[in-house]
Amino acid sequence: MARPLPDVLPVPWPADLPAPPARTEEAVARAAQVLGSGGLVAIPTETVYGLAADALDAEAVDRIFAAKGRPASNPLIVHVADTAMARSLAATWPQAAEQITASLWPGPVTVIVPRGRRIPANVTADGPTVALRCPEHRLTRRLIATLGRPLAAPSANRSMQLSPTTAGHVLEGLGNRIDLILDGGPCGRGIESTVVDCTVDPPRILRPGPIGRVELEAVLGGPVLDMTEVHDGAPTMPARSPGTLARHYAPKTPLEVSATAADRVESLVQSGKRVAWLTAQIEDPRVRSLASSRDLLVVPMPSEPAAFATSLYATLHAIDRRSLDLIIIDAPPDTDAWRAVTDRLRRATKA
Ligand code: TXA
Ligand code: MG
Repeated sequence: MARPLPDVLPVPWPADLPAPPARTEEAVARAAQVLGSGGLVAIPTETVYGLAADALDAEAVDRIFAAKGRPASNPLIVHVADTAMARSLAATWPQAAEQITASLWPGPVTVIVPRGRRIPANVTADGPTVALRCPEHRLTRRLIATLGRPLAAPSANRSMQLSPTTAGHVLEGLGNRIDLILDGGPCGRGIESTVVDCTVDPPRILRPGPIGRVELEAVLGGPVLDMTEVHDGAPTMPARSPGTLARHYAPKTPLEVSATAADRVESLVQSGKRVAWLTAQIEDPRVRSLASSRDLLVVPMPSEPAAFATSLYATLHAIDRRSLDLIIIDAPPDTDAWRAVTDRLRRATKA
């Protein structure tokens, strides 16, 4: 049965105001009410939009899996208002979790810790650990504090599709499957949080993200393993995080990463393909001459990794609407700062 489209409520909160404007506060109250009665609300965060339900309500959590078409074997991240709420959801609080959260929360890093008894089994896919994150986005923390309960929230997209970085993306992807959307504007980071397993020593990165390995090692004063680093085409270790399944975060248009993009683009266009080329080299004479082709869309991208991440998904969402044959992206540099972007591009290209 078709459901009506959800309301999309703007939730502006100017940086110079200590408390949100009255209309934003009303939207937060309404979202808390929907969540309190077991409903689903799409929420802004600094990384990507999340699809939230009361994390302590197993039936509401089941609705998240149904709305996304997500396998029950893939656990969810639980969002908290502060470290005290996080600790109340963990069976024990490892030292690595303490160090990471003390230095980097609120922020785009998720810690995996032993699961406390209050967390329903479906949140963690029956596993003994739980993923916890305190978002930088203060509107979302305010919502959690108003509700007084943690929020389970995966990215607000259908399973296997691109994560949303605007309320419009959420409406397009999940529209009639959810109850309400809070529109906090475009996400500042644009890429999902770093996921760190703190139940093992040394801690392990299960998903690279805005907080890189170098920064984590500085905070911990010791080594961190990146389980997603690829050597000779194969990951370092078998996945322990179901979300690290090879294909993920993929646009509908086939995507290719190329170290010799100009050559590749030229031969594709010559063979009659309609191509989008995401490149930072827009001043390059070769790019300029190719750009005059009717079948080629040159999309200028930032040359700095954080800015590249911020615009990546929004760019891919926009290109998907044009039904082109192929997306070509210049291969990023092989450095820690580009790890998260390289990881997402690798997953998006796996057939
Ligand atoms: O930035 C983010 O993390 C966004 C926003 C909404 O907060 N959320 C997000 O959630 O990306 P999701 O569900 O799309 O990705 C969660 C990832 C998945 O790869 C999942 O397998 C992993 O975290 N994960 C969750 N709980 C886990 C656990 N207990 N052990 C290992 N991996 C876990
Ligand atoms: Mg996701």
